[in-house]
Amino acid sequence: MKKHKLETYLEVYDSISELPDTIQNLINKAQQARDNAYAPYSRFKVGAALELANGTIVTGNNQENAAFPSGLCAERVAVFYAGANYPGERILHLALTVKSGHKVINTPTPPCGACRQSLAEYEVGQGQPIALYFMGETGKVVKSGSIRDLLPLIFDSSFLEKL
Ligand code: THU
Repeated sequence: MKKHKLETYLEVYDSISELPDTIQNLINKAQQARDNAYAPYSRFKVGAALELANGTIVTGNNQENAAFPSGLCAERVAVFYAGANYPGERILHLALTVKSGHKVINTPTPPCGACRQSLAEYEVGQGQPIALYFMGETGKVVKSGSIRDLLPLIFDSSFLEKL
């Protein structure tokens, strides 16, 4: 038996102002998208903005449903829109921010597991990392250089039996 240690390195920024202008702009777009989220049930609004290699910024927000599992997270709304409308276009960065109707969230809030898996599909497919910047409503911003840093032991198409 051998033990393997998995390590992840994340960058933590004290505030948005420490980041390059392009990333600040992307976070700004995610904040605007967040405020338009449809989250009447959880009152937890999430906004995502991703920048494509052709310069396009695609945004998404969470869309809830009275039949709860029928809703979708902000990250998947954004990444599926990008996949549907800009197929094959490389995703460079993704910014993520949240806002609760119950309290101010200043803890950086990472994507849920299902969204990490969905994002991994595109990162693996493009062969280049997607840098992710996530935050709460205010406060620190965390950067992970790759979805792999948030999803070790990634499951991808290489595990599927080839037809
Ligand atoms: N949510 C997202 O949009 N992204 C995540 O990564 C985590 C959760 C949404 C789903 C639901 O509308 C609300 O946040 C509460 O879970």
